[in-house]
This record gives sequence, structure tokens and C-alpha cells, in this order.
Amino acid sequence: MESPTLAAQYAAIVHQRRADLRQYFANNLPVTPNFVWEIGCGHGHFLTAYAQAHPERLCLGIDLAKDRIARAVRKRDRAKLANLHFLQAEARVFLESLSPETTFGDIFVLFPDPWPKARHHKHRLLQTDFLRAISARAGQGARLFFRTDYRPYFDEVSQTLEGYPGWEVVKESWPFEFETVFQSRAEHYHSLVARPTGAGAISPTSPPGISG
Ligand SMILES: C[S@@+](CC[C@H](N)C(=O)[O-])C[C@H]1O[C@@H](n2cnc3c(N)ncnc32)[C@H](O)[C@@H]1O
Repeated sequence: MESPTLAAQYAAIVHQRRADLRQYFANNLPVTPNFVWEIGCGHGHFLTAYAQAHPERLCLGIDLAKDRIARAVRKRDRAKLANLHFLQAEARVFLESLSPETTFGDIFVLFPDPWPKARHHKHRLLQTDFLRAISARAGQGARLFFRTDYRPYFDEVSQTLEGYPGWEVVKESWPFEFETVFQSRAEHYHSLVARPTGAGAISPTSPPGISG
């Protein structure tokens, strides 16, 4: 952020966004532990099918793109699914806005933006700070499901998880198949399942790298 004025404006927007998200959670979500979270849900194809097949699980999909969330909400409404929510939100801001008691069960990150250019790698979602922050919020039996068609990103995430004690890559099958938009365009893709080990567990009130 170059100018102090721009930095202050950005901080004010993020502050307001956190307050809006907290209000949304208070109005719409029970403090249910172990909700299913999809990050970058796009048009909501996967999570709508998942929520339909798992009516007992509370599912929440987020995406940065307003129009994608609008389509996902229409899909949810047509299917009349009370256990499914879609919300326009940035993943880190979302995480910072959750109440301290709220935990995730399964987390799906399906075909996240790969940012192939080296100078853009810093924009990739699944990096150590974020993996640490979500492991701090992982509830009983939580799992991370990651799928991408971009092999270098897959390798990077695998290596990061291996080098970080808070997560363990496990040989478990994919729990639920439903083709996403980006999956339908991919020739090949790679999938990974990881479980939090507890070693990276820290107080959810103060996950490192994420300030509340
Ligand atoms: C390549 S698309 C994949 C969409 C969908 N998962 C699929 O497989 O069809 C990546 C999506 O992630 C969203 N996204 C990127 N960064 C995000 C972030 N930090 N927080 C929330 N959503 C994000 C984008 O808006 C986009 O819709």
C-alpha cells in the first residue's frame, strides 16, 4: 500500500467488512461447531450438491466475486436448502470475523486461483500463515480437501503441509464428487486430503498471522 491515505481507507473498509460479517453470523448462523466451509465456491455447484446430500451439516460457501455468489444464492433458493449459506467474503477477512467458539469441520478448496507467475505466488491462498490459521480453527474430525489442475501449486501445498506440523496429509478418499465449473474445464487434476494433527493448534482467539 503506497499512500498512507489509501492504507487508512483500506483498513476502514476491512474494519467495516468484519463488522458486517459478524452481524451476518449473529443473524444467520448458530454458533454451530464444525460447519463445512468452501473457500472460492464460485457459482456454488459443488456445495449445493454437497448440502443436498448432507442435510444434517451446516455448509457455508464464500467467494470474492459478487456475481458468482448471487448465482450460488439463486441455486440454493431454488433447491430450498436451509443448511446452506453463500456469502461474498475474502477468506482471511471471513476467518478474522468468526466468533472465537466457531470451528470448522471439513474445508474444501477446489481449483483455487493458481497465480502461475512467480511474482504472483504471494497471492496464493494456501500458504503457511493461512494453513496455520485454519488449523487453529479445526474442530473434531476436521479435514482439508484441496484439488487443483495446476501441478506446481499442488506440489507447493503438499510440501508446505509436510513441513508444517499442524497438518498431516492422509491417504483418504475424496468424500463427495460433484464437478465444479473449473473441474469441467480441466484435463487432469490432483487431490489432497489433510487432517490437523493438533500440533499446530493454538488459541482460536489469536491465530498467528491473523489478527482479530
Ligand atoms: C478458479 S475459481 C474456482 C471456482 C470453483 N471452486 C470451481 O472449481 O469452479 C477461484 C475462485 O476463488 C475465488 N477467490 C479467489 N481468492 C479468494 C479469496 N481470497 N477469498 C474468497 N474467494 C476467493 C475467486 O473469486 C474465484 O471464484
